[in-house]
Amino acid sequence: MIETAGTASPNGNRPAPDSAPHALEVDHVSAAYGPYRALFDISFAVPAGGITALLGSNGAGKSTVARVVSGLMPSTSGAIRTGGKDVTGQAAYRIARAGMAHVPEGRGIFANLTVEENLVLAFRQRLGRKQVQDALDRAYQGFPVLGERRKQRGGTLSGGQQRLLSLAKVLVAPPRLFVADELSLGLAPVVIETVYEGLRRINEAGTALLVVEQQVDRAVALAQTAVILEHGTVAYSGPAGQAKEAMEQLMTSRTGGPSPG
Ligand SMILES: Nc1ncnc2c1ncn2[C@@H]1O[C@H](COP(=O)(O)OP(=O)(O)OP(=O)(O)O)[C@@H](O)[C@H]1O
Ligand SMILES: [Mg+2]
Repeated sequence: MIETAGTASPNGNRPAPDSAPHALEVDHVSAAYGPYRALFDISFAVPAGGITALLGSNGAGKSTVARVVSGLMPSTSGAIRTGGKDVTGQAAYRIARAGMAHVPEGRGIFANLTVEENLVLAFRQRLGRKQVQDALDRAYQGFPVLGERRKQRGGTLSGGQQRLLSLAKVLVAPPRLFVADELSLGLAPVVIETVYEGLRRINEAGTALLVVEQQVDRAVALAQTAVILEHGTVAYSGPAGQAKEAMEQLMTSRTGGPSPG
């Protein structure tokens, strides 16, 4: 069974047709790092064009879910589907081709390439040579700071600028699903705002989002549905509006009262 996290329609104003397959289905997935089991029977879905926040405390398994769904790490059981297509056990590049883009924690760019080289590489792969210039123009229009720093190496950009560069790569060729792992980590509030604006624009272009966050408020404001992980299991799956309360309940049961189950 897939917990489709409530009945909220993606984006409210443009509900996905019933027939549209989910952007992502995680179906009873478990995963391990050698002998250490990190995920236990995880199930949730991201609706086509929708936004799901993936929440939980440090070490809960959020990044592991991001790695497993994008093929960077194998699952030990269960199934992963994107757009209705089974991609379980497939290599990361094939999953990317099936429409999934993943920006790993704090990375997703080539440090030794310039801003422009990073963009050209991504656009050439996704769009083909002929459309690269057009895509570059749109990227610099959307993120002027990247235009100003087109000759600078990715690794020497500030943390916030690096995050914008990884968003620009995705924005110009929107995938079916974008997995964003803690894009706002360590950024100043004003830069976080720009990053979230970028996420909103990617979603408006039709891309579903799985947003991994520790900052509950921001993620919950952006998302329609939320999944909370605890010790590698799903502790909550439902409307994003109720996720904060669920988080608080989990904290209380952990620190004080008896734990449910
Ligand atoms: N390469 C690894 N080898 C062994 N154990 C790992 C590895 N990566 C993660 N783990 C363990 O798996 C568990 C889940 O880690 P994960 O990185 O998914 O957590 P997270 O929810 O993303 O945490 P954070 O919010 O701190 O990023 C943790 O207990 C972690 O120590
Ligand atoms: Mg993490």
